[in-house]
Amino acid sequence: MCGIVGYLGEKDAYQIIVKGLQRLEYRGYDSAGVALINGGVNLYKCKGKVSDLIEHASGKDKSGTAGIGHTRWATHGEPNDVNAHPHKSMSGNLALIHNGIIENYASVKASLVEKGFKFQSETDTEVLVNFIESIYIEESVDLPEAVRKALNHVVGAYAIALIDKNNPNQLIVAKKSSPLVVGVGEGEFYLASDATPIIEYTKNVLYLEDEEIAVLTKGEEMRLFNIKKENKTPYIQELEMQLEAIEKGGYDHFMLKEIYEQPRSIEDSMRGRILLKKGIVNLGGIADYEQKLINAKRIIIVACGTSWHAGLVAEYLFEDYARVPVEVEYASEFRYRNPVLYENDIVIAISQSGETADTLAAIDLAKSKGATVLGVCNVVGSSISRATHGGSYTHAGPEIGVASTKAFTAQITVLTLMALHVAQKKGTMPASRFRALLHELAGVPKLVEKCFEEDEKIQTISARFKDAKNFLYLGRGYSFPVALEGALKLKEISYIHAEGYPAAEMKHGPIALIDEEMPVVVVANQGPSYEKVVSNIQEVKARKGIVIAIVTEGDVDVKAMADYTIEIPKIDESLIPFLSVIPQQLLSYHIAVMRECNVDQPRNLAKSVTVE
Ligand code: M6R
Repeated sequence: MCGIVGYLGEKDAYQIIVKGLQRLEYRGYDSAGVALINGGVNLYKCKGKVSDLIEHASGKDKSGTAGIGHTRWATHGEPNDVNAHPHKSMSGNLALIHNGIIENYASVKASLVEKGFKFQSETDTEVLVNFIESIYIEESVDLPEAVRKALNHVVGAYAIALIDKNNPNQLIVAKKSSPLVVGVGEGEFYLASDATPIIEYTKNVLYLEDEEIAVLTKGEEMRLFNIKKENKTPYIQELEMQLEAIEKGGYDHFMLKEIYEQPRSIEDSMRGRILLKKGIVNLGGIADYEQKLINAKRIIIVACGTSWHAGLVAEYLFEDYARVPVEVEYASEFRYRNPVLYENDIVIAISQSGETADTLAAIDLAKSKGATVLGVCNVVGSSISRATHGGSYTHAGPEIGVASTKAFTAQITVLTLMALHVAQKKGTMPASRFRALLHELAGVPKLVEKCFEEDEKIQTISARFKDAKNFLYLGRGYSFPVALEGALKLKEISYIHAEGYPAAEMKHGPIALIDEEMPVVVVANQGPSYEKVVSNIQEVKARKGIVIAIVTEGDVDVKAMADYTIEIPKIDESLIPFLSVIPQQLLSYHIAVMRECNVDQPRNLAKSVTVE
């Protein structure tokens, strides 16, 4: 979590940094700060959002052509002005920003206190900047070497940027397990946690590898080495991302824009991968591991949050299409419970950001036990995409809203393609069904478009239930993971308590919660479990619960029973999640807006969870 930005060149650093922080605010928004070199190191920082920082800094001299900035998601120390980054060293010469956690900060701090260092904040970052300073002074090494030595000693995760009052033409950056991108311009450098603050200025970027340190000097080539002191050749690549992709494009919120982008993002996820004429699926990124995937006796999926829900959909898909057993694990549990893994297991790691710490750790564990790990990631060049043996990008484009929407549908697009491909190769599905599914999948973007026709009705329903205290979400089969996803969306952006359940499990406990106040969102599409869901709806109605049913267009039976119905087009049962999730995303969005919640930056959350 936390977003970091920096600039070194001839332009106005403050403007570039603040604009960059606004783009990265999805990563954390407890406090924000900037440090500029101009004679000394000038600090501007405060609790709150970047807008608060702008107000705090207004009227002050903010000139300078080198600086660093930070938007924080608190780990060590509550969000307040003092704990906000950047942090200066005791001498006031150095200033540091940091994304990550220094796990052994307490012992490092104790040794510094013994040497007479004094601390203002409760942060591990202030410990690190002073640790670097202590090495710099005591060992009479240059600053990059002091950074290298300090990073060899600390345990944990970091993406850092350091400036020195006495060397205004230099910026030192390093990373381990937290992302860092350096943008290379004409005699100038940009840096950020992801490429979004950079693309406006340059498309040439370097993604730092773990334990690499880059020394950026104005007007010179960057120097790159690792903490073992091995020199590296920077691999500068050209970004494909477009500026429009990270702007709101006329929508009130990124979340709404991203919901409405789904026809396009699903299309992008499929592009070049469905060859209808040949009747095949083409997934280049897994080609080298295809045989292993086909021969796998078991697939284990690791992920968190919404990506975990996409994993549950994949469990149904792989078992149904390709007849291979699948286990879906919370990455955070998997990594600590000594799981049984075999060399012929395939592990699939799903992540939008590609930076989720628990998912990364689960991948490392799986690899250490000899499993082949494939990634399904959205962010190109992310840590997870690099840590996995192979994989397929989802190509949904940048997802800025903290609540994941288009990433989910892009993930299930790729996972559906994978499952279909394996099924075809294994011969577990009749050729006619394979072709029919491929055609239906290709038609999903148009059907998602149709789902938006219900938006007005969803707004009316939202107005009716915006003050509800609880919601229940029910679904069966392929719609069960979507019920979980609907509940998560509502919880995280509107702060209404919601639970997702398999519809038939309701009678084993949650039914006790149902009364005339309880809205129950039920996915009741036509399909093999339709009749059963109809019975579940009757059970809710018998207890005076209020039913909001998501039904297949033309439905009659559920319409007669439910209080509200939202229609989605008819589609094969296995592809229902693509459509049934749309009204749920819109429902939570509208309710959150009506409750005046901060939709794109819900409280306590951050877009990528790079801490355990
Ligand atoms: O980037 P990832 O897909 O690995 O992130 C996993 C979760 O943190 C994420 O899905 C989270 O649950 C979202 N806020 C859900 O909307």
